[in-house]
Amino acid sequence: MAISKIFLLLSFLSFTCKGSNVLVVFPVTSRSHSNLGDSIVNILLDAGHQVNYVTPFPLKTNHTRLICTDISSVLKESPDTARPNLEHLSQPKGSHFVLPMGKLFASQALRHPAVQTLLNDTSKTFDVIIADWLYSGLHAPLAAVYGCPLIWYSSSDINWQSLRMVHEASSPAYSVDAQTRRVPTLPFTIGEKAHQLMLQVYLSAWIYYFTNYVDEPAYREIYAGPLQLRGKTLPEYESLVYNASLLLINSHPPLGQNIPLPRNAKYVGGHHISLTRKPLPKDLKKLLDESKKGVIYFGLGSIIQGKDLPENVKRELIEFFGQLEQTVLWKIEEQLADLPQNVHILDWAPQDSILEHPNTVLFITHGGLLSVTEATHHGVPIIGIPIFGDQFVNVDLATRSGCGIRVDFNNELPSKIRKAVNEILSNQSYSINAKHASSLFRRRPASPQKELLHWIELVADTRGAAFLRSPAVDISTWKKLNLDILLVIVLLVWFLLKVMKVIKAHLGDQNTGENLVKKNE
Ligand SMILES: *[C@@H]1O[C@H](CO)[C@@H](O)[C@H](O)[C@H]1NC(C)=O
Ligand SMILES: *[C@@H]1O[C@H](CO)[C@@H](O)[C@H](O)[C@H]1NC(C)=O
Ligand SMILES: *[C@@H]1O[C@H](CO)[C@@H](O)[C@H](O)[C@H]1NC(C)=O
Ligand SMILES: *[C@@H]1O[C@H](CO)[C@@H](O)[C@H](O)[C@H]1NC(C)=O
Repeated sequence: MAISKIFLLLSFLSFTCKGSNVLVVFPVTSRSHSNLGDSIVNILLDAGHQVNYVTPFPLKTNHTRLICTDISSVLKESPDTARPNLEHLSQPKGSHFVLPMGKLFASQALRHPAVQTLLNDTSKTFDVIIADWLYSGLHAPLAAVYGCPLIWYSSSDINWQSLRMVHEASSPAYSVDAQTRRVPTLPFTIGEKAHQLMLQVYLSAWIYYFTNYVDEPAYREIYAGPLQLRGKTLPEYESLVYNASLLLINSHPPLGQNIPLPRNAKYVGGHHISLTRKPLPKDLKKLLDESKKGVIYFGLGSIIQGKDLPENVKRELIEFFGQLEQTVLWKIEEQLADLPQNVHILDWAPQDSILEHPNTVLFITHGGLLSVTEATHHGVPIIGIPIFGDQFVNVDLATRSGCGIRVDFNNELPSKIRKAVNEILSNQSYSINAKHASSLFRRRPASPQKELLHWIELVADTRGAAFLRSPAVDISTWKKLNLDILLVIVLLVWFLLKVMKVIKAHLGDQNTGENLVKKNE
């Protein structure tokens, strides 16, 4: 009896202590996506798991439990889709332009020889797969190859398109598409709602086209071999795409649209913000410490480079920054001449640590979600200059909660920035709201790192966490809108009307018959 109990305990311990083998796929050739992937990999390694990381930016470490599948050669092939041309910003592309982009990143990675070798290696097994979801389901069949559950990761806030991967599209009555250029205030007017609804219908047609006529053939081509090698037949593509066990979202209610979630979608925004930051370089720390009047940090992220800004814009900004009593740290990849004393150029910046410093009073940003998340975490108000993608939504939401001001990228940029900087420095409310958002953002039952790990381990240990799955994902939209019932009612009414008409005609015949009889009498 005692022995069997010990045996049970031992087998329980071995079950809980055994590390899982996790495949992490982050193929997008942008630093912000890989920062998120790196964070997930490090959290998994720290918890004792094995990781195989497919990435264009392999980690510079010799960790014994990490294998990096290096796809860095895609950086050379990859066209400039991820890098917008600032001169052509005034001509926005159709809202569907992100769909082929996502497909490109996914198929580029899957066709890479290093990944092909991984797929052909039948000795490889995984307990769970985590894939960056960017408008393409082409990574989903990996779960069929390895016979394990799949977790989608959304690097932007939840939106109707990512939510439908595990649940159903969110309602256009209260949520906007991720590419929306201006977020209307709630409640939407009927026109704003109609616009979002039409966008969903229009994009759904494109999604149908891409899923069935672009991704599906690519799926057959890429996965037929590896599935055959494992003696498996090719399942129907759509049955794999909508079969993820979990959706992890790089956002959190104070940051995002706060769309209601099913039980298998979880906010983990902020997990990339390390709890143990490297200390600031000495001279930078000294500069920040001594700037008692405050520090303004100006950084436009990794995709837009400061040198892409027009020359006159840079000169006007420098002139304005020189008039301020605050210290300005400008992250830009070039040396600028004639700098005022209080303006400092950084070609590399530990952004997170700068924002954490108590003297930092303002962050001028492009509004990428990682930057907005870090600003929120540290309670720093922002001036957002959205350039493309979800940046417009991110900045508008921060503005809505009173944590910042949006400035559009056009010819009046310097004068608009001047006005916004003066407003934020003179009006305390932005800083107070940012501090409030920070306290909400941090107030969670567990750190985002712990939550992320918890959900991944749950999916791996329960082989798919089927009990969390939303029933809505398996039911077609027209049934969810009760259009099938409406159709039955319409048919029924139509049938009843028909019957009544026949009866009426019949009664009418009788009546006229009776009348005739009466007349004859
Ligand atoms: C990894 O190991 C190689 C060879 O042992 C060594 O040259 C390299 O410096 C190591 N890299 C790191 C980041 O430790
Ligand atoms: C869907 O996922 C579950 C859990 O991983 C798995 O058991 C099932 O076989 C998958 N279905 C298909 C069609 O692949
Ligand atoms: C993978 O296997 C397929 C056959 O199933 C073969 O055509 C292909 O060349 C292999 N690729 C690599 C990189 O081993
Ligand atoms: C500060 O800004 C807030 C938000 O824009 C505004 O409501 C408030 O009136 C401003 N306060 C002053 C003193 O200008």
